[in-house]
Amino acid sequence: YYISYTKPSNAPPCFPILLSILCRKYDFINKGPLELIQDGYKSLGDIFRIRLFHRSVVFLIGPQAHKIFFEAKDTQLSQREVYIFTIPVFGKNIVYDASPKIMQQQLKFMNKGLNLINMKAHVGKIVMEAEEWFNKWPQTGQIDLIKEFSELIILTASRCLLGKEIRENIHQEFAHLYQQLSDGMSHLSFFFPNAPTNAHKKRNLARIKISKIFEKIIKQRRINQEIQYDDFLQVLIDARYLDDSIPTDDEITGLLLAALFAGQHTSNITSTWMGLLLIKYKSKWMSKLLDEQKQIMNKYHGELSLESLFEMNLLHAVMKETLRLYPPLVFLMRKVLESISYNGYIISKGDIAVVSPSIAHRISDVFKNPDEFNPERFLGENAEDQIEKFSFIAFGGGRHSCLGERFAYLQVKTIWSILLRKFDFELCQEHPEPDYSTLVVGPKAPCMVKFKRKIDSF
Ligand code: HEM
Repeated sequence: YYISYTKPSNAPPCFPILLSILCRKYDFINKGPLELIQDGYKSLGDIFRIRLFHRSVVFLIGPQAHKIFFEAKDTQLSQREVYIFTIPVFGKNIVYDASPKIMQQQLKFMNKGLNLINMKAHVGKIVMEAEEWFNKWPQTGQIDLIKEFSELIILTASRCLLGKEIRENIHQEFAHLYQQLSDGMSHLSFFFPNAPTNAHKKRNLARIKISKIFEKIIKQRRINQEIQYDDFLQVLIDARYLDDSIPTDDEITGLLLAALFAGQHTSNITSTWMGLLLIKYKSKWMSKLLDEQKQIMNKYHGELSLESLFEMNLLHAVMKETLRLYPPLVFLMRKVLESISYNGYIISKGDIAVVSPSIAHRISDVFKNPDEFNPERFLGENAEDQIEKFSFIAFGGGRHSCLGERFAYLQVKTIWSILLRKFDFELCQEHPEPDYSTLVVGPKAPCMVKFKRKIDSF
């Protein structure tokens, strides 16, 4: 295996991988890289490195090690260099391509569009879209959960984020262009974002077309100011940089796409895993969940709203437990711009620092019986994630933690509150394995389930 000649003697211990790769010890295609990282953690502890080509990749595992990752300043650990692959989709001068000052202001615009005040308007739209969608299901049938949720979530995202013009007039055209953008964000794009592939060419063309679509919509909204809009797009149109300049139409488009990409696959995957786990373990959890649904829906006179969703604690815990077992983002990465130290080891400038929600969530010292599906671990005073900060990291942590966490909870909880009350489900297949062939990791498709409309739905 590689021996690093340039590393200082207090570099984190190196986990040899070349030999394991040559001996095919790990099944990377089917099982992804997580087994290898688990082995590194078991044999070397909460900080270790692997050599990947010419680079040291330093893994930080467990709440204490996560702390230095999440509490570092952007000038020490930077996202920009590892998220370069997003630039062809988000665009020039947007988020990871913008200067640190501009990026910070753009993230604030996004935060404003996803804050609690806007959330009230968003919830109404999510509920409307979801109810309409599930009303179209027949009495009984079979569906692929992941396909179904993907289609529904692009509708809710269109309505809440992109605006009613997209949702009502050109949804199909937009969905097609969005698919072309998604196809241009593969593992290959991560390493070579501008490789001259067909997928990248289509992605670049789709980005230009989307920009033109939004230019028109933004222009119309700026001319026709008497109509009040309460979506994310309008928050961006009304946004001002600190020097009072307005974001350009292309910047607004890029920020919309950034929110869409951050939220679409992650929420779809979470809704799907949540359904698969709920159906698999229904004998243990279903009646408790239905009791909660009955009690809260009674209290709110059958209205699914921000308030009623907030009170569905068990449903919330089910979603959190789903994210603990199957976080869609399995690695979070930063480029080290200034050397930092942890437990006497130096993580050097130029290294890549990585934390892994998937590994972190299965540490048995942090989560009891970590492979067990037990939503109640997140309830009450002794909730397991409350004991130590940065133990549950499906939404990241610190200054760059997820801005859409609240939106995601409301969206996924809405979907499952409706489904639990209106349908009975059965699995049609074995519990699927995670699919590591995509950057955002979900269950291997298809995820077929049988459904039957309830006679006594409420
Ligand atoms: C950041 C997970 C849904 C918007 C993040 C990060 C994680 C994450 C782990 C941190 C990335 C890092 O540290 O490098 C998730 C999961 C979701 C979800 C698991 C759903 C279950 C959403 C939604 C939106 C959103 C619905 C918006 C509508 C963002 C944004 C950031 C982010 C803007 C960047 C924050 C920053 O860099 O300061 N998300 N996310 N996310 N997420 Fe989410």
